Amino acid sequence: GIVINLQEKGVGIAPSMYGVFFEEINHAGDGGLYAELVQNRSFEEHEMPAGYHAEGDKLIPSPEKYHLTGEVRHDRSFKWNTEPVRAWNLLVKDTAAARMRLTKERPKFQSAPNNLEITLTDASHPIQLVNEGYWGMGIGAGENYHLRVIIRTSSDYKGTVAAKLLSSKGDVLAETSLKVKNDNTWNDIKATLSSAAKDAKAKLALEFDAPGKIWIDYVSLFPEKTFNNRPNGLRKDVAEMLVGLKPAFFRWPGGCVVEGITLNNRFEWKKTLGDPAARPGEYSTWGYRCSYGFGYYEMLQFCEDIGAKAMFVCNVGLGCQFRMGDACPEDKISYYLDDCMDAIEYALGDVTTEWGKRRAADGHAEPFPLQYVEIGNENWGPEYDRRFDLFYKAIKEKYPQLTLIYNEMPQRDGAPAIAKTDMIDPHWYVDPYFFFRNTTLFDTYERGKYTVYVGEYACNRGVGGGNMLGALSEAAFIGGMERNGDLVTMASYAPLFENRHDRNWATNLIWIDSDRVMGRSSYYVQKMAAENRPDYNVKSNITMHEAQPESVGKGHLGLGASLASVEFKDVKVIQNGVTDLLGDMILSKEDHMLPEKVYEGDYTLEFKVRKTEGEQGFQIFLGMSEDGKTG
Ligand code: AHR
Repeated sequence: GIVINLQEKGVGIAPSMYGVFFEEINHAGDGGLYAELVQNRSFEEHEMPAGYHAEGDKLIPSPEKYHLTGEVRHDRSFKWNTEPVRAWNLLVKDTAAARMRLTKERPKFQSAPNNLEITLTDASHPIQLVNEGYWGMGIGAGENYHLRVIIRTSSDYKGTVAAKLLSSKGDVLAETSLKVKNDNTWNDIKATLSSAAKDAKAKLALEFDAPGKIWIDYVSLFPEKTFNNRPNGLRKDVAEMLVGLKPAFFRWPGGCVVEGITLNNRFEWKKTLGDPAARPGEYSTWGYRCSYGFGYYEMLQFCEDIGAKAMFVCNVGLGCQFRMGDACPEDKISYYLDDCMDAIEYALGDVTTEWGKRRAADGHAEPFPLQYVEIGNENWGPEYDRRFDLFYKAIKEKYPQLTLIYNEMPQRDGAPAIAKTDMIDPHWYVDPYFFFRNTTLFDTYERGKYTVYVGEYACNRGVGGGNMLGALSEAAFIGGMERNGDLVTMASYAPLFENRHDRNWATNLIWIDSDRVMGRSSYYVQKMAAENRPDYNVKSNITMHEAQPESVGKGHLGLGASLASVEFKDVKVIQNGVTDLLGDMILSKEDHMLPEKVYEGDYTLEFKVRKTEGEQGFQIFLGMSEDGKTG
């Protein structure tokens, strides 16, 4: 029976409990939360990080260039985009009329040096440079769009430049002409386009009508209506999905992008500040180069807008230990520590500090709500521990109010691995049965030394892109976290977003298309938990009888397999002292078998079982009702 005493309070559930984990994976930022409609707006997407080379469509880090820690679990290869100029096409009647190439000559910004050079030889028909957006641009009827084009034309170009929003069928939805001085200097032009009709797969074209040369540094198109009307802002519909989760905190920038495949392509927050046109972007670890458009400032602003605390994850001078596992040399560790201190100062420092002043110059004089700093992402081993201790001490001394997070369990071989941490961040990407079986996982964790932030968890094994079983198992696991609310005070599902056209990770919470956004079943589990976060547990006593297999009504013995194929060996039925040997059998997935003899009454079943295929867990069922269904 179950006895619940409503008067007796159990442990509380922290207001900080439910938050979100953001990472540039699956085009979560570019082509996702970030409202920019133009893909590859700075023509930087073909830029490779230093220390890499491409072999066909693979990006290969060159190991001899790195100092390796030896603490690597496995290596992976990475996609490399072989298109010459991603997302851009030149539309010409005759291919000899114009050609394009990427160049770094006379860049507008040294930090984002690529320009697209177009040579027009025959303009008897207008020539269009078309951007397809992120698998189409979602354009609304009667909506305004802000265009910015940085362009230079040769002095002998005597034509005009027009910008056109085109429907998927090629109809003109909006157009404007750009006032370009044809004198070989850079023009930074802003204009507004108002769309005549709705289209989910619209495109943006720049049109030229005379021979000559054109160089384009940057083309950006933003909806006028962004979340909270912020410039360089977020897609309203997508951001509102996050608001629906009532996040107490927002983690940024990751995830593995914090470390990079190697240190050379780690996410660098300083490069995400300032004029979006000058941001270099980075190859994001997940098979594409991102623009750095949704940068540190934008993240902090979003936190302030939605009343969430910000969590910054810093790099400790270690590249991803799941990949190359490189480490910066000893004398460079201080560079990474300084970089982290600067990030904190950017969020919290007043305007008399170097980075507080920079924040004010970027548009926000008051500090931002930074509360958490995670020191490293998914790092481990003695090399990490040493660095953690250094970072922890330095940050705590200057910012005692911050909560600092360690990636691992802080004991190794029974001894402490680090001096001290405020929180730890264990991750679980598992099958549904793991979550169902492990609702008591935290019951035995040690108390009193640190609290737990479950920074990444999801049921992503054996559930495809996600399904109801997975979502329910997450709900069960959440129940276990809440019951241990004195220890587990924060949790975030991961990954958060996927653009439906670029799934880099099997199972993600929110799906995005150019004009739609949808929360999967797991989203509604998160939402339900956050909207109904209890203040405290009530104490209960549950006495249970040992589980007895029961048949449904009148039935007989059957054996079945689901989720995977299984092999049963030495199956025996023992009834009234008599043993029937049923022998061995292999049952493929979702198959079952009924012995010839019907066993009624009590009997004992003995067997050995093993899974014969599949990476995930498996289930067997024993006992059938008369109609052959599971008992
Ligand atoms: O959430 C996807 C990845 O899983 C994260 O980048 C990483 O931290 C973890 O391994």
